[in-house]
Amino acid sequence: MTDTFITPPVNKLSDKQRKRIQTRHKVSVERYGYQPKALYCSSREIQEIRFKALTDILPKAMKLRKEIWSLLDVGCGFADFSVYLERLGYFPDYCGIDVSPSMVMGAKSMHPQLEISEGELADFTFQKGQFDYVMLSGALNEVVETENEGTAEQQGEYAKSVIQNMYNFCSKGVAFNLLNKQNAWVKTRPDLQSFMAEDMVTFC
Ligand SMILES: C[S@@+](CC[C@H](N)C(=O)[O-])C[C@H]1O[C@@H](n2cnc3c(N)ncnc32)[C@H](O)[C@@H]1O
Repeated sequence: MTDTFITPPVNKLSDKQRKRIQTRHKVSVERYGYQPKALYCSSREIQEIRFKALTDILPKAMKLRKEIWSLLDVGCGFADFSVYLERLGYFPDYCGIDVSPSMVMGAKSMHPQLEISEGELADFTFQKGQFDYVMLSGALNEVVETENEGTAEQQGEYAKSVIQNMYNFCSKGVAFNLLNKQNAWVKTRPDLQSFMAEDMVTFC
């Protein structure tokens, strides 16, 4: 069989953009500690509504069989998703990555048993299909200005390259969330990036 896989473009954050994200989260951790508000999430309840939607792609049988499966959590924050999954009875071999050192420090101090590393997805040399599932919650909500992403038409290219890489590294499923362009409040926040749901479904 011919391998039709196409290597995804390597689209990385600029140093300026990376610093901006890191500073934003450093400030929020100093202000709120290891709480959902430090993740720019208004409450645990809202955070978990998002987690539930991601978890919906997992076969329930995995839970019943207490199966061990691998999960890469992109932009893991404090690795709260791992706690949520365990509460539901899922036991992934969890790997979290996050570009903000303050988040990684928080996640590691609360979960020393987990594998958590600092960086964006393009910094890692994971293998094709290395993880059963690759998931992301809330990590692609900011407008990103990479070197390749200077104009309004190019906005979203970074997010798409991350999603493409998520497919590259998974063997069973990908789940993520983005902001919906049709939400009125999103229009009032030029610092946030949003997408038309049907465009993203087509892209995927
Ligand atoms: C809204 S928080 C969500 C954290 C976690 N996923 C949760 O739901 O609890 C977004 C996280 O993504 C991280 N992040 C933002 N852009 C990223 C990128 N390009 N690559 C990796 N992490 C990123 C931030 O540092 C932050 O910790």
